[in-house]
Amino acid sequence: MTDPQNFYAEVGGAPVFEKLVRRFYEQVAEDEVLRPLYPEEDLGPAEERLRMFLEQYWGGPRTYSDQRGHPRLRMRHAPFKVGPIERDAWLRCMRVAVDDAGLDPAHRDQLWQYLTYAAASMVNSPF
Ligand code: HEM
Repeated sequence: MTDPQNFYAEVGGAPVFEKLVRRFYEQVAEDEVLRPLYPEEDLGPAEERLRMFLEQYWGGPRTYSDQRGHPRLRMRHAPFKVGPIERDAWLRCMRVAVDDAGLDPAHRDQLWQYLTYAAASMVNSPF
């Protein structure tokens, strides 16, 4: 398994993360569970925040923390109800994005394992 700090460079850097997150938000825009959670009409800024966060996590530029500070993702999700239904919807959208990102199987599986773990840890409601 790749050291997460090398992942960004190994998979091809910025274009891969741009594609992944763009595809994810294309799904979110059409998703009746997730779309209403996003407070802003324009999903562009949310897309940029997720992209910067993922790039940083996987060893890319640290722009996320430069602009947003410490991630504290559970705290930042506290205003939104994230139950099992929202978690599954998020992962459904992300699965499409991960499958379309053009990664080799080892990197794809490593990314997916992280995302399923991260999504489970964001759940803040039992229903
Ligand atoms: C922000 C929903 C899981 C990373 C947000 C926002 C919503 C949301 C509604 C606010 C949009 C914005 O203004 O940025 C959800 C739901 C999840 C989920 C329903 C289901 C489990 C995750 C996971 C990650 C993540 C697993 C990371 C791997 C982020 C980031 C932000 C964000 C980085 C922006 C934080 C900031 O800097 O303000 N999410 N999210 N989310 N989410 Fe999630």
